[in-house]
Amino acid sequence: MTGLRNDSLLRALRLEPAPHVPVWLMRQAGRYLPEYAALRARAGSFMALATTPSLATEVTLQPLARFALDAAILFSDILTVPDAMGLGLSFAEGEGPRFARTAADERSIHALEVPDLARLRYVFDAVAQIKQALDGRVPLIGFAGSPFTLACYMIEGGGSADFAQVRKMAYARPDLLERLVTVNADAVAAYLNQQVTAGVDVVMLFDTWGGLLPAADYRRFSLQPMRSILQRLPQGIPTILFTKNGGNALPSIVESGASCVGLDWTVDLRAARRAYGDRVAFQGNLDPLALLTASATVELLARDVVKEAGPQPGFIFNLGHGIVPATPPEHVGALVEAVHAASAA
Ligand code: CP3
Repeated sequence: MTGLRNDSLLRALRLEPAPHVPVWLMRQAGRYLPEYAALRARAGSFMALATTPSLATEVTLQPLARFALDAAILFSDILTVPDAMGLGLSFAEGEGPRFARTAADERSIHALEVPDLARLRYVFDAVAQIKQALDGRVPLIGFAGSPFTLACYMIEGGGSADFAQVRKMAYARPDLLERLVTVNADAVAAYLNQQVTAGVDVVMLFDTWGGLLPAADYRRFSLQPMRSILQRLPQGIPTILFTKNGGNALPSIVESGASCVGLDWTVDLRAARRAYGDRVAFQGNLDPLALLTASATVELLARDVVKEAGPQPGFIFNLGHGIVPATPPEHVGALVEAVHAASAA
């Protein structure tokens, strides 16, 4: 009893049969859509879009107006949490994220606290508005960054080719990195609980950089804090955990308590489903660059992924990472249709 007209995503997350393989795409609302670029230009910046609930709602719904997607994902960013912790986030045109202040030394890391959630009220207001606008069409996915991935940006002050300062800290000052991911986990747990209260149907943790770490450090600094967040969410809320480059850690990730594990394109989906498909759902894993080919190629590659996943319940089609800005929108349409056609019961 979900009150949703299309609950194929929730069925897959519960390992129940669904009328077709549900499909949604990371970054499904974004720069590859001309209507996104137009609205962003009118709003003036990415942050103006993200912090104005009516605009965040409009952007969230844009891809659903074009494609038969089986889920909506809240339009926001993982870095709003460190912004609320006082680091001062901005996105310069054509560049990645920037923080005005870093959290890279003893003093700045020990000064961090769980933010007053009132500073993230625009997110919870957006969730409520999006739920109302969706009117039960499809479920809404809420999300946050993993404590370690947030720490990567907080330490470096922005993106980085190799996150060298973060990796050095893991060896030189593991106590400091642990303190940073612990306060991030507390912040994310509170933030996601509030998203659930505001109405999201599913929660996803984006761990883009956990795969940079040696195996034992991944478990300590990335997986363990994510597990502690999952333990603090309300009973029954479905969860998706995505560590990019996490294939080697799959045996421990499937033990994390998440309902679903996101896979990038380097992972053998068939083998993962065979080994663990009766315990967790899987989400993935087409290379986003496959969408830069031609519609007919996209259709073939999408069908291959559905075939590799096999007929067993508990599979959600997605890309192995976010859609890239150069993607032709028609190719996304072809992909969604191909997934549904290849999997219709
Ligand atoms: O998936 C969705 O459609 C929901 C919205 C969403 C955004 N960012 C919007 C966004 C989500 C879930 C994210 C997560 C996010 N943000 C991650 C984890 C997933 C991943 O992609 O690895 C990370 C690492 C970030 C941090 C971030 N935000 C970066 C590095 C950048 C710039 C580079 C890039 O990939 O675009 C952003 C900006 C951002 N976040 C944009 C969007 C649509 C583009 C902003 C613009 O309009 O210029």
